[in-house]
Amino acid sequence: MSQVFDLVLKGAEVATPNGLEKISVGVSNGRIAGLGKIDADGAECLDLGGLTVLPGVIDSQVHFREPGLEHKEDLESGTRAAALGGVTGVFEMPNTNPSTLTADDLANKLARAKGRTWVDHAFFMGSSEENAHALAELELLPGCCGIKIFMGSSTGSLLVEDDEALLKVLKSGRRRVSIHAEDEARLRERMALVRDGGPVSLHPEWRDVEAARLATDRILRLARKAGRKIHVLHISTAEEIPLLAANKDLATMEATPQHLTLAAPECYEEWGSLAQMNPPIREARHREALWQAVRDGVVDVIGSDHAPHTLEEKQRDYPRSPSGMPGVQTLLPLLLDHFNAGRLTLQRLIDLTSAGANRIFNIAGKGRIALGYDADFTVVDLKANRTIEPDWLASKCGWSPFEGKAIKGWPVMTIVRGHVVMREGSLLGAPIGEPIRFQETL
Ligand code: DOR
Repeated sequence: MSQVFDLVLKGAEVATPNGLEKISVGVSNGRIAGLGKIDADGAECLDLGGLTVLPGVIDSQVHFREPGLEHKEDLESGTRAAALGGVTGVFEMPNTNPSTLTADDLANKLARAKGRTWVDHAFFMGSSEENAHALAELELLPGCCGIKIFMGSSTGSLLVEDDEALLKVLKSGRRRVSIHAEDEARLRERMALVRDGGPVSLHPEWRDVEAARLATDRILRLARKAGRKIHVLHISTAEEIPLLAANKDLATMEATPQHLTLAAPECYEEWGSLAQMNPPIREARHREALWQAVRDGVVDVIGSDHAPHTLEEKQRDYPRSPSGMPGVQTLLPLLLDHFNAGRLTLQRLIDLTSAGANRIFNIAGKGRIALGYDADFTVVDLKANRTIEPDWLASKCGWSPFEGKAIKGWPVMTIVRGHVVMREGSLLGAPIGEPIRFQETL
């Protein structure tokens, strides 16, 4: 007797570890239970002719602002934006209010997420001198994707600045630690440049190349000393890439779609403080170096650093305008457009949006289309021509620097553990997101 599945995907090109295959996918109990020629009798069947099924996209850097900053975003609206953009899993950052620093803070986020999230999720634990001793235990709590260190201050109050404190954090625990690498001492030194105001185009001069390079160089040395693996987030300079390439045994790195798509000074001329983020968008030579690093395999993952602020907040005079831009919903459309423009292959796109997060963070059962893995799929139309329309965007902040941009390649369906949560721009069913599991905490 042939196996009866809950759901069968057929007719599509499916991106398995073997490459693109014209096969069917059978789902049972939220997991992938059949690949190949499949009898769809008795199952709900999705006919996906002409479409491509990718492993569910995982965005390993989002700020969803809950608790405390829900006027900018919350877990429901943030995950809604994720599902609409073809993202099936998110890792959320700890610079909320309160910051995520204790087991109770994490439990609070997990409780808030229950029944309100459209995609699967995990939360970063923030680090400080005060909680350093507890991090080895905290990082192993279910629903935690790891520790985050802010070496330079950004939105919120999290900061671990000097070598001694950084070593304390790095020595507490074993999982890979995610790093915001900007050198706080240099940022303070150069603050005079902008303290009395000025054009937002000064942002990459205040938070300059050297501030990023110094911090990345320092954290690599400290991580080596502590024997701790690190993941350096949102790389923004050509200068950091050789440092990271020389330490691949120790460090992984993230690039964002913003740093791969925008460049100074045009972005500041066109978008003003909406293009302001930390670390800053810089001149085109950095963007080109990042693309080279994508092609060379030095970049391990692409995360959106979705960091929404309201238009009203963004309209404050620089430098009081907050840093960050939304991005979880536009991550995949932008990358599909870059794929169609020949900037990366589909294989590399998949590596950077699902397999990469699996590798870096030791996710259990997500990140590839293989038997036994969660049935998370991002179905895309590689040839669709669309425009990023304001009324498609779900983030509470209500804007994107990519509004009006013509895109070739589009997510048409988001499937989380066998539940179709988005089809052709509409959300379906109820928010069924669950905590993501990790190998360390199975
Ligand atoms: O631009 C940024 N915005 N960079 C960060 O590191 C934080 C983020 C935010 O939370 O607003």
